[in-house]
Amino acid sequence: MASDSAIGIHDLSFATTGFVLPHTALAEHNGTDIGKYHVGIGQHSMSVAGADEDIVTMGAAAAAPIISRHGADQIRTLVFATESSIDQAKSAGVYVHSLLGLPSATRVVELKQACYGATAALQFAIGLVHRDPAQRVLVIASDISKYELDSPGEATQGAAAVAMLVTADPALVRIEEPSGLFTADVMDFWRPNYRDAALVDGQESITAYLQAVEGTWKDYQEQGGRSLEEFSAFCYHQPFTKMAHKAHRHLLNTCGYDTDESDIKRAIGQTTACNTVVGNSYTASVYLALAALLDHADDLSGRPVGFLSYGSGSVAEFFAGTVVPGYRAHLRTEAHREAIEGRRLLDYAAYRELHEWSFPTDGGDHPTPAQTTGPFRLAALRGHKRIYERR
Ligand code: COA
Repeated sequence: MASDSAIGIHDLSFATTGFVLPHTALAEHNGTDIGKYHVGIGQHSMSVAGADEDIVTMGAAAAAPIISRHGADQIRTLVFATESSIDQAKSAGVYVHSLLGLPSATRVVELKQACYGATAALQFAIGLVHRDPAQRVLVIASDISKYELDSPGEATQGAAAVAMLVTADPALVRIEEPSGLFTADVMDFWRPNYRDAALVDGQESITAYLQAVEGTWKDYQEQGGRSLEEFSAFCYHQPFTKMAHKAHRHLLNTCGYDTDESDIKRAIGQTTACNTVVGNSYTASVYLALAALLDHADDLSGRPVGFLSYGSGSVAEFFAGTVVPGYRAHLRTEAHREAIEGRRLLDYAAYRELHEWSFPTDGGDHPTPAQTTGPFRLAALRGHKRIYERR
């Protein structure tokens, strides 16, 4: 049986939507000083979904390159993490399983606990690979973050999917034991079943997140985790990138350090490049931080990285991963750059139209306009069934 330290992320690929709204357009519409967006919350643009894309099309687009590189033979489990689910019963992962042509001998399930879900999926995947190191688990985190127009949350919308292949002897990051865990029943962010847009108490979510940083770190230390000084970088969940800054400052304070701006920048600076232009991708956010770090930092071979995964409501986990020597040969830096740069620019009016778009609920045949050019599209809602196409 493989040891815990030899199981982790073998491949990582992300996808985002076909459209992007720059924060300058939002600021011009609502009269906000752009400094609030660029500096105050640390966001420059947000991915916006077209009418013919959703968490399934993004998830499939993120996972397809992994299947074409490694095949699907050893994948017996697909775990789909999301908090912007498209169905109350059927897992979004089953649609992805079909679009990717995965073997029928696969277990597929959807997991939910706000933005934390993908970390639960990663840990469950590690458990399965520990039981049988010949098996591989496909973890997909895919979300569209949507808040009310003209609400404070509007500037922190976004969308992306991350797919990770979890295996023994991984090529990118070995995930370590122990984890630090923290759960508290708080109402900082939630989305009742009857709503498309989430409800959020922004200031409460910042306070709850910082309590979770403290709580997970305390438990991580009690479980015998590494000391703060050992880490080369920290990947935080980033509902907006300034949150990573606030979280790391809080962790330094918790550990009795003065907060030095250059220390914070060194720890998180390379992890925000994707999230600042994609926006909040909920479950995918902390792993987009990892993608940015691996794609852009100097060689991290053998270096420990800290992960803080936070999901409102709330559940959080702090854990460590060690970057595997030789990882750079397996990165998808160019494809990630193309996913971000290939998005089409929206003006405010076009963004608003997409924000307000939704399917009728009458059970009729409702084709979607062909707006996007990605490998998969949501073609229609027909008799209450979502119809997907592979291009
Ligand atoms: N230049 C630079 N900074 C500026 C500024 C300007 N012109 N104007 C304001 N700011 C700063 C503020 O000082 C503040 O910084 P601070 O937090 O370090 O004090 C920051 O910009 C945000 O300003 P604030 O007045 O708090 O903004 P807001 O009321 O619009 O709320 C959020 C911001 C992030 C709380 C809100 O967008 C939100 O609720 N987002 C959703 C968060 C979420 O999804 N949480 C759940 C998952 S964790």
